[in-house]
Amino acid sequence: MERVILLTCTIIVGGQWGDEGKGKIISYICDKDKPSIIARGGVGPNAGHTVNIGGKSYGIRMIPTGFPYKEAKLAIGAGVLVDPEVLLKEVEMLKEFNIKERLIVDYRSGIIEEKHKIMDRKDEHLAKEIGTTGSGCGPANVDRVLRVLKQAKDVEELKDFLGDVSEEVNDALERGDNVLIEGTQGTLLSLYYGTYPYVTSKDTTASSFAADVGIGPTKVDEVIVVFKSYPTRVGAGPFPTEMTLEEAEKLGIVEYGTVTGRRRRVGYFDFELARKACRLNGATQIALTGLDKYDKDCYGATDYNSLTEKAKEFIRKIEEETGVPVTIISTGPEMHQTIDLRSEKL
Ligand code: GTP
Ligand code: IMP
Ligand code: MG
Repeated sequence: MERVILLTCTIIVGGQWGDEGKGKIISYICDKDKPSIIARGGVGPNAGHTVNIGGKSYGIRMIPTGFPYKEAKLAIGAGVLVDPEVLLKEVEMLKEFNIKERLIVDYRSGIIEEKHKIMDRKDEHLAKEIGTTGSGCGPANVDRVLRVLKQAKDVEELKDFLGDVSEEVNDALERGDNVLIEGTQGTLLSLYYGTYPYVTSKDTTASSFAADVGIGPTKVDEVIVVFKSYPTRVGAGPFPTEMTLEEAEKLGIVEYGTVTGRRRRVGYFDFELARKACRLNGATQIALTGLDKYDKDCYGATDYNSLTEKAKEFIRKIEEETGVPVTIISTGPEMHQTIDLRSEKL
């Protein structure tokens, strides 16, 4: 049955410990689906997304990663913590993408100050035991719960960007536009459902991202959970399918964190955790990244039929174990290195 993909509200969420390649998947979807607004949920500038376009690589922590699609408004939801220094630097760095004209920061977003970053880096428990990103998110969320945290509306440098993201997103939905909601981190880093205490300072499932940008659950049409073929984890905490660094090197997987530069731990795909992540997020689709790392012969493929039997078998097993269709497959870091099966499978 032919299904119209346009006119939907879609949430993108990480299914593992973050760094699944959401940045790549989001830029691809924006280019194809042309949303009128791209709204970012998630914790804050602890996130690091990589977007590769036209041979250039951008490391982004605050601006929605759908920025290369120039027609969309870019919104940061009330639930997201904003570090004005990081945000303003990114506005400047990405000036060729007209960010200034398109950015809306919810006036209720919480503000990270220097003291939060200092505490995140000095506190023994946070810095050493948990291994946080040191971006100040945890301590800022503490202040928010204590109801002493500054909001974006209190910050002079942000005044040109302030708006009501919930109203903007709901207006877009009422017009029947495509809306894309970007989640950051990953399900297994959720404060509620992750590997507590080795988690981030907030829930990181799709339901929270909807709340972060101010829409209700009845408005969400699609939840795309992003998995990478060989999951990674930065910082401390359980990782049941972890391999040794030597094994990872043999497989050619050596990755470093976008925010902290720390070496990422690498593991084998965990089907049981993937099933749980799909449930926690109410996944309607799976996007699988790094298939070229699973099987080098798949590098750059744009057609399902050109994948190897080994890769196809892996995809079938993911679908069988999770009960969710794999609709988008990434076979390399560039936007066009993608297989899109949405019109066939949905
Ligand atoms: P999120 O943190 O989930 O947003 O992911 P990210 O896009 O930030 O990824 P991050 O930069 O943290 O690490 C993923 C890396 O893998 C990036 O350098 C991406 O460019 C790259 N990448 C994404 N998809 C693929 C893929 O299918 N194959 C390969 N080889 N690299 C990919
Ligand atoms: P925090 O979010 O900085 O407090 O860090 C808590 C844990 O979450 C640490 O293990 C971090 O490495 C991890 N973490 C937070 N954000 C990300 C992310 O975007 N990608 C990967 N790991 C993250
Ligand atoms: Mg990342």
